[in-house]
Amino acid sequence: MTRMTRRSFLEGVAATGAAALTQPACAASRPAPAGAAVARRAPAPLVIASANGWRGAARPDDPAPRQSAVETALALLGDAEVAAGKYGLLEAVVAGVGVVEDDPEDHSVGLGGLPNEEGVVQLDAAVMFGPTHQAGAVAALENIQNPARAAMYVLRYTDHALIVGPGAYRFARAFGMPHAELLTEEARKMWLYWKQRANERDDWLTPPDEQVEESVRRAYSGGTIHLSALDAQGDLAAATTTSGLSYKISGRVGDSPLVGAGLFCDNDVGAAGATGRGEEVIVNCGAYAVVAAMRRGLEPKDACLETLKEVAEKARRRGLFQDGKPSFGLSFYALRKDGAYGSAAMFEGGTFAVADAATGAGRHEPCAWLYDR
Ligand code: GLY
Repeated sequence: MTRMTRRSFLEGVAATGAAALTQPACAASRPAPAGAAVARRAPAPLVIASANGWRGAARPDDPAPRQSAVETALALLGDAEVAAGKYGLLEAVVAGVGVVEDDPEDHSVGLGGLPNEEGVVQLDAAVMFGPTHQAGAVAALENIQNPARAAMYVLRYTDHALIVGPGAYRFARAFGMPHAELLTEEARKMWLYWKQRANERDDWLTPPDEQVEESVRRAYSGGTIHLSALDAQGDLAAATTTSGLSYKISGRVGDSPLVGAGLFCDNDVGAAGATGRGEEVIVNCGAYAVVAAMRRGLEPKDACLETLKEVAEKARRRGLFQDGKPSFGLSFYALRKDGAYGSAAMFEGGTFAVADAATGAGRHEPCAWLYDR
């Protein structure tokens, strides 16, 4: 697993390959943010994320301190050199989600993500930067381990918002991002087991359950990481990155790289993101709806709940209801410009990750929910 230190982070920023050669320097001081009066009252900096954004407290038998997305992002926000860069806030967000992209044990993101039906890992990611209201995204990206970083390069170094497929791969390579095999041995076994069981009429024989490890049998994912951050100037940025729905049709793109669906950020209001069944987030403009609800004055948690209700109502029409409940999981995360935050999930029992400046440490907090299990 790649470990991100302040030093390696700063070296990574400096060594952006062709970016450093072809782009004007972007290290100018950030312009004064709009809404600075609000920001002065904010308990910033603060980072929230989906549950996989925090790995739990260090255990005595851990060989090395456990890194987490929220703590990594928060630590970088507190670094004066990082914070001084025009895009320092965005760099911190991208480094935060990069911890999970680099983790082969998280089968919903980056390295070790579960592949599509053809056994190929295809990644989606987007970033949004509040101070300039810019977005960048990549979709159906293969062989690049950190799609959120590629998305940031789209934001910073192009006039586009979304680049997909082989073009996204070549774009990332142009910026010096290494070619990587993302299908780990464990993820390959999971995919193979899925393929062996997928169709009783094909020629693949299904192995008896006792010959398949429990972890391989449980191998489905609709997971993702979303992370939103508020810095000491009251500015907001967000990232969402995923390997998407496991065993999807090749080329399927979920909500994560779609601005307004898997994430949205309005620097005058707040940031939001989604994890779970992307198709429902797309048809309801999920993250945009959460930010719009905060703009109307709802608390972040209530903005998430209101949007979930809307998604659930529409799911009835879409035939995605079973036993009086939606047949899929979905969570929203919301961070308001004044530092208020919250999350809600379709079903009881979810948690989300938080790290704030008071302790610098991560924690899990319970999500509100719409339906009991
Ligand atoms: N929310 C992740 C996906 O559906 O791809």
